[in-house]
Amino acid sequence: MSNCAVSLKILRLLLTIAMGGRVVVEFFRIDPWGASFVKDYERLMREFGIQPLTSEIIKRLPSPHRLIRRGFVFGHRDLEVILRAVEGGENYAVITGIKPSGEYHLGAKITAEEFIYFLSLSPKARGFFAIADLEAYADNKVPLSKSKEIALSNLMDLLALGLDPKKVYVYRQSQEISVLRMAFLFSRAVTYNTLEAMYGDKPFGLYFSALVQAGDILLPQLPEHGGPKPTLVPVGADQDPHIRLTRDLARKYREEFGFILPSATYHKLIRDLAGREKMSKRNPMGNLYLTDSPELACKKIAAAYTGGRATAEDQRRLGGVPEVCTVFVELLSMHFVEDDRLLKEWYHECRTGSILCGECKARVCEIVSKWLMDHRRKRRKVADIALKLIEEGTLS
Ligand code: TRP
Ligand code: SF4
Repeated sequence: MSNCAVSLKILRLLLTIAMGGRVVVEFFRIDPWGASFVKDYERLMREFGIQPLTSEIIKRLPSPHRLIRRGFVFGHRDLEVILRAVEGGENYAVITGIKPSGEYHLGAKITAEEFIYFLSLSPKARGFFAIADLEAYADNKVPLSKSKEIALSNLMDLLALGLDPKKVYVYRQSQEISVLRMAFLFSRAVTYNTLEAMYGDKPFGLYFSALVQAGDILLPQLPEHGGPKPTLVPVGADQDPHIRLTRDLARKYREEFGFILPSATYHKLIRDLAGREKMSKRNPMGNLYLTDSPELACKKIAAAYTGGRATAEDQRRLGGVPEVCTVFVELLSMHFVEDDRLLKEWYHECRTGSILCGECKARVCEIVSKWLMDHRRKRRKVADIALKLIEEGTLS
């Protein structure tokens, strides 16, 4: 890997010199900490060897999740290994982490739902929830004490979304010595060149966060958690460099620890409500937060980017374009309509111009408001459990 990194660097240099010093070849690199993301999922799969989530695999999944059925979860690595564990009744782990830099928004909800879904497939599944307070500090300068507070709210969201608290181990990176020790052990096998080639030139804290995340992902396989076992990490496509790094480390430390290479599923990144790439926690009006009041949510929906036409008359004649509409894609398809038939009808209504955006948004506002109120009620119910999990790691 480090050899490859060096030759990449030389190639880049030669090309730059050949072109009179202008950099003309754009290297395809994913920045998990960046605000923008290349949404070329085909190319991502081609260049980095992510496997497509085929209909054969989906058929083997018990009641496939909405996000899987509709193609938002588009790829995987070694999901086969997890399927075999589910089908054979063997132990496996599902791990996710959250950088506690703010309240949960619709993007984080995708990962949360995938996490809950894969955990629900078998009584033998164990969940691990890493609160990435070190990464939040390295990337967003969030003080560690503040992280705990934010993480508590995030955990309430997870539980309200249906996480089984009896199946999960919760920890903060800064408090988990096994994870920190592993990050250190891994650092022996990683050079600056490797990291620079994967992530670009970054502060050392971010590189270190990547090693800590590798520690997170392999924690379930340590003796204290029952030893090597299939491990699944559901992630957004922007997290793939971390997955590749971790799999590479799992391979290098296989002899020492007996690691099984972690599996991953990949979902597409959600746009913000202005239709811009990668929903970021940094522009609050473009994001729907799970803790928003219905009034605020409806204001955001009213301002959301649609596939509507310039005039009502045009729209009645030509129909809307649901494919580009954030209301249809991000809100209805990804999150708020469970029933596939209803979604299809909605699509048809939009496409044929029998519904206009104003009326459509009013309906969506109603659905989302109801969901948020319901979610708020559930959050209140799980507050004590969330607190206990943050303090003690498990319920037992
Ligand atoms: N880097 C992830 C993010 O930005 C958070 C994270 C930390 C994580 N540790 C993890 C995700 C382990 C999956 C598995 O949100
Ligand atoms: Fe989007 Fe609804 Fe307008 Fe269609 S009618 S473009 S789905 S807001």
